[in-house]
Amino acid sequence: MAAAIGIGIDVLEPTGNMVIDIGGGTSEIAVIALGGIVNNTSIRIAGDDFNADIEEYMRKEHNINIGERTAERIKIEVGAAIDELDNPPDEYEVLGRDMLTGIPKGIKVNYTEIAQCLDKSISKIEAAVLNALENTPPELSADIYRTGIYLVGGGSMLRGLDKRLHLKTKLSVHVAEDPLRAVARGTGIALKNFDKFTFLIK
Ligand SMILES: Nc1ncnc2c1ncn2[C@@H]1O[C@H](COP(=O)(O)OP(=O)(O)OP(=O)(O)O)[C@@H](O)[C@H]1O
Ligand SMILES: [Mg+2]
Repeated sequence: MAAAIGIGIDVLEPTGNMVIDIGGGTSEIAVIALGGIVNNTSIRIAGDDFNADIEEYMRKEHNINIGERTAERIKIEVGAAIDELDNPPDEYEVLGRDMLTGIPKGIKVNYTEIAQCLDKSISKIEAAVLNALENTPPELSADIYRTGIYLVGGGSMLRGLDKRLHLKTKLSVHVAEDPLRAVARGTGIALKNFDKFTFLIK
């Protein structure tokens, strides 16, 4: 709800809106209308799992050990949710330790590899989104058809995630302008306009 307020959705109106918050530990999918959450799905697949996928991929495919921070760096530099991007990032040189020799080693990775290594986790998020759409009352479904899906949370910045969800759902998908701060912004707005949002405190 805070994320929805933070990106400027009028949460009090009868129109349904779908907001997906992809954080570090969880991805939350909510349909909001009339100041309430109509349905809410939470799955424990998000940014941290993408990092774990990347660590495992580097170990299995390239025989190098990397730490979590390096995995996070790779995700930010060349992470992607689809293997055909309009604006592809440059290859990125990953530095780690060769598992066989123990010697430090550099390996170039590109976004298509990372898209493949993240595919399984992203499929799980996709499945949860489809499930949430299926469980949305028809009137609100019609609204979401018009308004599309809003993505917030740091994980929503993964390249091509919006496009991938669009291809899967055929809905328009909007990534929030400042996705990492949407929740904080929304909380601030709610506190400043306490009268309007009293319904949030139950
Ligand atoms: N440019 C980026 N591309 C992909 N992922 C990113 C990017 N920037 C940050 N992230 C990821 O976003 C996640 C953090 O997002 P956010 O701050 O919304 O999560 P959180 O609110 O702390 O977690 P949760 O909601 O699960 O409690 C981290 O996994 C981080 O790696
Ligand atoms: Mg969060």
